Amino acid sequence: MKHLIAPSILAADFANMGRDITMLHNSNADWIHVDVMDGRFVPNISFGFPVLKAIKPLTDKIMDCHLMIEEPEKYVEEFAKQGADVITIHYEASNHLHRAMQQIKATGVMAGVALNPHTPVSLLFDILEEIDLVCLMSVNPGFGGQKFIYSTINKTKELRAEIDRRNLKTKIEIDGGVSLQNAEVLLQAGADVLVAGSAVFKADSPEQMIDRLKNVGELKKI
Ligand code: DX5
Ligand code: ZN
Repeated sequence: MKHLIAPSILAADFANMGRDITMLHNSNADWIHVDVMDGRFVPNISFGFPVLKAIKPLTDKIMDCHLMIEEPEKYVEEFAKQGADVITIHYEASNHLHRAMQQIKATGVMAGVALNPHTPVSLLFDILEEIDLVCLMSVNPGFGGQKFIYSTINKTKELRAEIDRRNLKTKIEIDGGVSLQNAEVLLQAGADVLVAGSAVFKADSPEQMIDRLKNVGELKKI
């Protein structure tokens, strides 16, 4: 399957959120990545339910909610109710990940686990069957616009090999510092979903940048 592009609205213009969501709606973006930060799990606060609720009716794109929050289990049902289609919680924020995956899936949405750059992918192997999506953080979570951490490429390869060995459908998402400079190598390593905040919203034409990210690797296939 062709890879998916998930622009992160953390890099959107918050004073013109409706305009930016409409732009994404009309673009070739596949998912909309929604970064929720609580000022505890990460040293920054972004937004929460009211923003998700406000943007949900503006598009039928998949709402990919990345919860960078402590005690994420407390908020799963509410995120699902407000329109999340994917709910990703952090390995580092949950003591009962296996249970949390069941809890998320019981709400009818996809269940994801995000790993900070220092967390090895092998820590998920015992519950890989339960996980719909693994989000590999390629920056330290908390802020957009940071430099891509290259060790993510080897993590992607290791995880891809294990998913394929077991014939699973678990998707691999890469989040942080993704751009045209590293998209191709990430896809070759086995990524399925590329999150891009600054690369999209700081481009002269965000729609064109989405197209370019979407078409990475195309020429080679011809
Ligand atoms: C980082 C967030 C990312 C971020 C990506 O904490 O999880 O989704 O918005 O932004 P860029 O693409 O600018 O690194
Ligand atoms: Zn994110």
